[in-house]
Amino acid sequence: MIDVACGTGLTFALIDDQIGPDGHLVGIDLSPDTLSRARERVAANAWRNVTLIESAIEDAAIPEVADAAVFVLTHDVMRSPEALGNVLAHVRPGGHIAAAGGKRAPTWVIPANLYLRYAMNRYTTTMEGFDRPWRMLDALLPDLRVELLLLGGAYVAWGTTATDG
Ligand SMILES: C[S@@+](CC[C@H](N)C(=O)[O-])C[C@H]1O[C@@H](n2cnc3c(N)ncnc32)[C@H](O)[C@@H]1O
Repeated sequence: MIDVACGTGLTFALIDDQIGPDGHLVGIDLSPDTLSRARERVAANAWRNVTLIESAIEDAAIPEVADAAVFVLTHDVMRSPEALGNVLAHVRPGGHIAAAGGKRAPTWVIPANLYLRYAMNRYTTTMEGFDRPWRMLDALLPDLRVELLLLGGAYVAWGTTATDG
């Protein structure tokens, strides 16, 4: 499983529960500080099945073809065709893709949009495409499904990679 832009590894415990000790988790992030906190988390939990890669997703030398990839709170990556292309090239045909994050809420949900603007300023470089953050992924997967959460201020999306080459 590839944890795309894994940050400090907040999702690792959940992923590790799913993949078990025989599964392999590859976490990738470009921030050295953030990744060093992920490294500490891996050491503290004695996870031996985690590989961390410090790199932009666009250029990451992903060491395997995975069964699945997750994108959590990573709008910048969701807006990068090069990053999405590199990840999907390293997920097997018919592999699982899931993404989750914030999105622009309907205009009437003023508090949600104010909070999202604050959060996005901290964590992403662009609000571009924030009304449908999954749009580029949708163009690359044959069966992407999307569910809106929190009055339309967040989403989860999931699908599989193409099986016909
Ligand atoms: C809001 S954090 C989310 C981290 C993690 N997925 C989580 O849910 O806790 C966004 C992360 O994306 C990383 N990031 C942004 N653009 C990236 C890129 N092009 N390549 C690799 N990492 C990237 C940042 O360094 C940051 O750690």
